[in-house]
Amino acid sequence: MRPAVCFIKADSSETGSDMSDSVKFRFDVDGSNFTTAGQASVQVKKNLRELGIPAEAIRRVSIAMYEGEINMVIHAHGGVAEVEVFEDKIVIVLSDTGPGIPNIELAMKEGYSTAPDNIRSLGFGAGMGLPNMKRYTDGMKIDTELGKGTTITMVVNF
Ligand SMILES: Nc1ncnc2c1ncn2[C@@H]1O[C@H](COP(=O)(O)OP(=O)(O)OP(=O)(O)O)[C@@H](O)[C@H]1O
Ligand SMILES: [Mg+2]
Repeated sequence: MRPAVCFIKADSSETGSDMSDSVKFRFDVDGSNFTTAGQASVQVKKNLRELGIPAEAIRRVSIAMYEGEINMVIHAHGGVAEVEVFEDKIVIVLSDTGPGIPNIELAMKEGYSTAPDNIRSLGFGAGMGLPNMKRYTDGMKIDTELGKGTTITMVVNF
């Protein structure tokens, strides 16, 4: 899977003294197909390796992003994944237009899952995705609105 969009952004202040470069990848995550679920995080892993990002940071990004990507497929009919690589951190933004999360505190609890039986029979639904996303990142923010969707932002420093 190739990124839908990949571009290099150079932000500089008007004086040009505060310049910071970043590389950004964007993926459309197909919500209708379990066989392709997880492909964006696999591609990100490759891209980060090519950029020479430290292995431990790549490992943490891969785990957190995979869980978030699978959640978008299972719980939200897919969405968009954006990964921006800075000099010292990686920011992952996962946005969907799914049902939203009614109770974030509950959803964050280990073992809590609303996954139906057919999804559980595929091996998902342990209720460990969100707790692991928090555990493997240095920062995580959930913005959600019922009936509108969910945006999860995660940061991994290196
Ligand atoms: N993007 C999302 N949109 C709507 N609800 C979500 C989303 N992500 C998570 N949830 C809700 O939060 C619950 C907990 O998510 P979590 O990833 O921890 O567990 P799970 O996906 O059910 O199981 P596992 O990740 O272990 O396979 C989900 O069961 C679901 O109810
Ligand atoms: Mg999950």
